[in-house]
Order: sequence, then C-alpha cells, then structure tokens
Amino acid sequence: MGWKLAVLLLAVLVKDGHAVCSCYQAGNYTGTTAPISNAYDTSDFSACFSAACSYVAYSGDDTKGWTGFTFNWVQPLANAGGVLRVFDGTPNLTASPVPLIQVNEGENVIANSAKNLIKSTSPKITIQYTQTSTTSANIYYGSIKATPGLQPTAGPTSTTAMPTTKTYDKQNFKYNPCLITHDILIVVNQRTNGGIFALNMLNGIVTNFVNPLCVTTVNNTIDSTRLALASLTPYQPFFAIRGEIWGMNTTDVTKNLPQSGVSIDGNIDEALKGLVNLTFIVNTDTSTDSRKNVQRSIVLLTAEWPSAATLNNDVKSVFDAKGVNLLVVGYNLTIDEWGRLSQTGRWYNVLNALGSNVPDVAKFVNPFYFNDNSSPNTWCPPQSVQNATTGNTVFFQEPVNYSGPKSSGDIWKDPFDGQSARYCNFADNQYTYTNPNGKGLQVQVFYELEAGKDFLKFYDSSNNLIASFTGFEVSGSTFSTTSSTITARFTSDYESVYRGFYVTITPQ
Ligand SMILES: *[C@@H]1O[C@H](CO)[C@@H](O)[C@H](O)[C@H]1NC(C)=O
Ligand SMILES: *[C@@H]1O[C@H](CO)[C@@H](O)[C@H](O)[C@H]1NC(C)=O
Ligand SMILES: *[C@@H]1O[C@H](CO)[C@@H](O)[C@H](O)[C@H]1NC(C)=O
Ligand SMILES: *[C@@H]1O[C@H](CO)[C@@H](O)[C@H](O)[C@H]1NC(C)=O
Ligand SMILES: *[C@@H]1O[C@H](CO)[C@@H](O)[C@H](O)[C@H]1NC(C)=O
Ligand SMILES: *[C@@H]1O[C@H](CO)[C@@H](O)[C@H](O)[C@H]1NC(C)=O
Ligand SMILES: *[C@@H]1O[C@H](CO)[C@@H](O)[C@H](O)[C@H]1NC(C)=O
Ligand SMILES: *[C@@H]1O[C@H](CO)[C@@H](O)[C@H](O)[C@H]1NC(C)=O
Repeated sequence: MGWKLAVLLLAVLVKDGHAVCSCYQAGNYTGTTAPISNAYDTSDFSACFSAACSYVAYSGDDTKGWTGFTFNWVQPLANAGGVLRVFDGTPNLTASPVPLIQVNEGENVIANSAKNLIKSTSPKITIQYTQTSTTSANIYYGSIKATPGLQPTAGPTSTTAMPTTKTYDKQNFKYNPCLITHDILIVVNQRTNGGIFALNMLNGIVTNFVNPLCVTTVNNTIDSTRLALASLTPYQPFFAIRGEIWGMNTTDVTKNLPQSGVSIDGNIDEALKGLVNLTFIVNTDTSTDSRKNVQRSIVLLTAEWPSAATLNNDVKSVFDAKGVNLLVVGYNLTIDEWGRLSQTGRWYNVLNALGSNVPDVAKFVNPFYFNDNSSPNTWCPPQSVQNATTGNTVFFQEPVNYSGPKSSGDIWKDPFDGQSARYCNFADNQYTYTNPNGKGLQVQVFYELEAGKDFLKFYDSSNNLIASFTGFEVSGSTFSTTSSTITARFTSDYESVYRGFYVTITPQ
C-alpha cells in the first residue's frame, strides 16, 4: 500500500481518546526484531491512545544486544506531543531515567543516522511511548534489532535431550505429528475483521499446531521440524520476523505470537514473496545442509482476505523457485472472502477454520502434512500417465516440476537457486497403463528417491512385483515385461524428500 492510501485510511480509522486502547506489543517480547508501533483499539484495531505504552524487548540470548533502530511517524501528525524512548535494561520508568534513544513527534530515524547506529550492550531494553494530548492518536512504526557480539560470549550452554516419546491425539491426527519433518514458517496476519478475539483464535490454531511437533534447530538433520515465525504488518516490507529464523522451538513460537492487532491492511502478496526470499535460503554447500531434502511450507493464518490479495502467478513463481509450499488457514472468513481465496485452479492449499482446537488443526494437518487424501492436496497434485510428444510412448513423473534426466546422458538440472520441487512425504500414488494391442511393455526409469525408504515399485496384471526402485539412477534403468498391463506404486515415508522420478513406457 502506498503512503497516500495509508493516509486516507488513517483519516477514517484514527479514533478519539475515549476508545479502549491496548499497546501494540501488549506483553514483553523475546526475539531479534522488536516491533514498535502505535496503540490500537482492541475491538477493531484502529489507532488510538491511552496511558503510556511500554514493553521490554529481550534478545533471547545474553550475548546479543540491540542496534539498528529505525522509526517513522505517519503523516499527518496528530500534534499530540508524542515521544518514543528506548532505555537500556528495565529501569523504573516512574523515576524518569535517562533514555538511550529519544525521538520526538515528527522525527524519523533512518538507516545509518546517528540514532540508528546507537548500540545497547544490554540483552534487555525497554521501549516506551508517551504523549501529552488525551484526544488525538499518532500513528507510527519502527523496529530495533538484536545482534550478537554486543555482549561478551556466554559460557557453553547445556542442552537437554529431546524426549523420546511424545503423546498425541490419536483420535484426531492420522499419525503422530512428531513425524512431520518440514521447515515451517508460520505467518500470522495481525489485521483481522474480528479484533482481538479473532487474533486469539489464530494464535490458538498455531499453538495447537506446533505443540505436538518435534522441533529441531539443527540445520543438517533430516529429522524433525524447524520453525520460524513472522507476522504481517501494514508497512514495507509488510512483515516482521518474530524470532530467530529456524532457531525457534515450540515455546519460542507460542511466546512470540502477536498479542495485538494492526489497523491497516498490509500487502499479503509482497509480504509472502519477501518472506520466501528471506527465510528459505538454500545452502549450496550440500555437505553441511541436508535440510535441502525436507519439505518446506508457509502456513499463513488470517481472519480476513482483502480483495487486494491475489496469490497470483508472480507469487507462485517465487514459491516455486525455492520449492516452498503454501497453506492459507482462514478463520471465520466471509463467503465472499472464502470464494476469492479458494478459487479453482489455485496452487496453494486452503482451509476456513471455525475454531482453534485440535480437531480444527487436524483438518489441515491430515490432508496436507500427512497427505491422507481427506482433501485434495495441491502440494503434490495427482499426476497421470500421459502421452509423450513422439511415437506411442507414454510417461509419468513426480513431482509436477520434475527437473531430472529424461534420456540417457541427461543430468539433473536445478533450474532454481539450488532448490527445486520435491515429491511429498507420506505419498502413496498409483499409475496404471495397458498396452492397447495386448502385447508386452518396455519400461525406462530415471529416479532420485530416499534410499531404502521411498520406493517406486512395478506390478504386472496379476499383482506380482516385477521391479522395485529406491536410491538414485541417472543413466536410467530399463526392463521389459510380457504383461500388457503394468501398475506402478510410489510410496514415500515421513523423512527426506528427493527430486523424484520419470518413467517412460513403450508398448511392444
Ligand atoms: C515485562 O517486564 C518487566 C520488567 O522485567 C516486568 O516488570 C513486567 O511485569 C513484564 N510485563 C509483562 C506483561 O510480562
Ligand atoms: C520507582 O520510582 C518511583 C519514583 O522515583 C518510586 O516512588 C518507586 O518506589 C519506584 N519503584 C520501585 C519498584 O523501585
Ligand atoms: C526453547 O528455546 C529457548 C531459547 O530460545 C529456551 O530458553 C527454552 O528452554 C527452550 N524450550 C524448550 C522446551 O526446549
Ligand atoms: C525474490 O527473489 C526473486 C529471485 O531472486 C526476485 O526476482 C524477486 O524480486 C524477489 N522478490 C522479493 C519480494 O524480494
Ligand atoms: C548451520 O549451523 C552452523 C552452526 O550453527 C552454521 O555455522 C551454519 O552457517 C549453518 N548453515 C546454514 C545453511 O544455516
Ligand atoms: C514449475 O516451475 C516453473 C518455474 O518456476 C513454474 O513457472 C511452473 O509454474 C511450475 N509448474 C508447476 C506445475 O508448478
Ligand atoms: C464470524 O464472523 C461473523 C461476522 O462476519 C460474526 O458475527 C461471528 O460471531 C463470527 N463467528 C466466530 C465463531 O468467530
Ligand atoms: C493418448 O494416445 C491415445 C492413442 O494413441 C489416445 O487414445 C489417448 O486419448 C491419448 N491420451 C491423451 C491424454 O491425449
């Protein structure tokens, strides 16, 4: 959204001093990018003002202090005598301590300015807004970042072993959610049509989703899920990262969920594109990062679907380029919103939740994470046996964007930034072909599958196993059968996902 439009909306949304106000960051914050924004009305998130708003930001790590403060006042100013102060540590604010940074109404702080470069060696800082007017509210936004090295390095931290057993709700989940091995970025839209109630429902969905997961922060394991958290905001870049990317555990995520809303729509398309680019960085050094072979997904939780959000092909191509899947979980969307979000032919998965309990979470975990066919899964859409462009040869492949060899001498191409489409975990798909002239078949298979875990098996018309493939084969494996009908079955387990297979069948 451009500045002009934002200003127009603000003129309508700004309320008087009698509204029930809540700080933008209602509780204290732990994470590496502390958000700063105006107070809001809890019922509709419009901007307002009450008593002094302050909160404590903790970097989450005693070796990290704070710097990189940026700040903007949105025009027109309320002329309310607004002052934003940042303090080292957690001083007694009633005693009027000396602030580390102070900005008066109208003063913006941009990159590389003096106030932007101020550093705090304290892992905890306090951010406070006050104003003299009791009738008009200012609108402002900014952030400050935690960085390592501003504090002496702490001694080694002891690690506790992950519990080997984790109970889960067998009644609702098809399998134990501990088996999910994705890299999952959770994104919460802070702008809702249902105020704080709807935001709490979104947070409830996230909590019930992440609680049964087994989470890791190790970047070269094939097990467990890695988590990151972001929220959508009204201004460029339209998102805020709410913790260390891929460095968060379940508790970090639930503690850093946004506790407050915003009053202005952001730009969902731009936010998602930016987040994919920022968080799904491919390490081309394959020896150190095997997370390359795990499924990747963004779960966007939103209680509104603005008509400006398109999730068009431009957005799709950014996701495709990093092999990232998208799921949009709406909460109590209107018929009109749902119609636009769930349009046919879409490339992402959707759900309109009406609650936030485990059964509501299972409604998207079962079809999309466990691929149990309880609802169509666009992350690995059904494929079929297709006619090749030449001769009477037919072929089938997985994934949709298979990028490997199709004839002897070809090699794997990663058209993208070291990462391209993978097949899905928990796959179980069948392909059947019958030679119309009743004779036998010749089959060639190119494949890259998780060795010993993911299989492509071929059966004749009497269901006898003829051939079984796992691992990889670049030069193609060929076999013939006298059976005129052949059925292939592809199964994958819960762990690593690879670049898939390409099969051609030539009728004899
Ligand atoms: C925030 O932290 C301050 C100082 O540590 C503490 O006094 C206050 O109770 C905390 N507030 C919340 C909402 O946790
Ligand atoms: C905070 O400062 C005020 C004013 O100096 C003082 O009255 C109050 O006792 C202090 N509170 C604490 C917890 O020290
Ligand atoms: C989660 O990580 C935080 C640090 O980010 C740590 O303090 C906390 O103990 C961890 N919680 C669990 C349950 O492992
Ligand atoms: C994301 O990355 C792609 C490819 O590197 C680039 O073309 C695109 O402009 C980026 N988009 C955003 C929103 O950063
Ligand atoms: C993986 O973690 C190690 C150590 O924590 C770090 O040095 C490395 O840069 C990380 N790799 C990636 C791709 O994030
Ligand atoms: C395959 O990837 C290309 C390149 O990003 C993209 O344009 C195309 O839509 C993708 N196809 C499918 C079916 O996802
Ligand atoms: C859903 O939204 C409607 C307004 O569109 C509201 O009246 C209703 O109370 C909401 N229901 C729930 C369960 O949030
Ligand atoms: C494939 O070719 C066969 C005959 O060669 C034809 O009957 C069939 O309709 C074709 N299938 C598709 C999907 O084009």
